Amino acid sequence: QKFSKLIVAIDGPAGAGKSTVTKKVAKALHLTYLDTGAMYRAITWLVLKSRIALEDEKAIAELIKTVTLCLIDDFKQETSQILINGENVTKNIRTLEVTQSVSLISAQVAVRNKLVRHQREIGCSRGVVAEGRDIGTNVFPDADIKIFLTASVEERAKRRLIDYESQKLENISIHELKKDIKARDYQDSYRKIAPLCKATDAIELNTDGLTVEEVTSQIILICKSYVE
Ligand code: DC
Repeated sequence: QKFSKLIVAIDGPAGAGKSTVTKKVAKALHLTYLDTGAMYRAITWLVLKSRIALEDEKAIAELIKTVTLCLIDDFKQETSQILINGENVTKNIRTLEVTQSVSLISAQVAVRNKLVRHQREIGCSRGVVAEGRDIGTNVFPDADIKIFLTASVEERAKRRLIDYESQKLENISIHELKKDIKARDYQDSYRKIAPLCKATDAIELNTDGLTVEEVTSQIILICKSYVE
């Protein structure tokens, strides 16, 4: 009850451990898990499927005018599903092709305007634990709690490798993953609109060497001391 309207923002670069931790925090506090990266990925998947060039901002703006995105959150199961135009793309949005294309799509003004509006609507109606790149700086600048999760490139690449291997999505080397992570960090941090950066009032947590449980309980503790 105490947490029901709480807005928790968790930002940070790719592979810092945001998804796993955010899901667990949302579950523990009975709040909606809002995976904003999944929204950018779903749009990217649709653009690829529609065979529109990733740089064709005009066509993409047109494509997304009527798009419907639906996030189905089940915090009891620590899972969430994402549907775009009624199609469940939860698995499809995790492929390497989507991952390598998403930065170009998420840098486009029409895409960001559409998704940020949608994210704020969700946050208006209920408490959320939202993960992304611009949650504390742009989507919810007045969030109750802001966390900025970081980790070294080496650690993040190792985690991604385990992710890929467990999902049996495709074969990729640690070297390629590091290159990918660095490229995405650069694109996400230096884009013109809402680049990845730590909000001045965010608490920075470096997750190198910490377990998921350790990071999760630190964040839950911060939330609890905020409401009490
Ligand atoms: O967290 P993720 O890897 O699923 O995010 C996919 C991409 O979406 C990431 O490269 C940057 C972009 N993104 C963004 O620009 N803003 C957000 N709030 C979330 C993700």
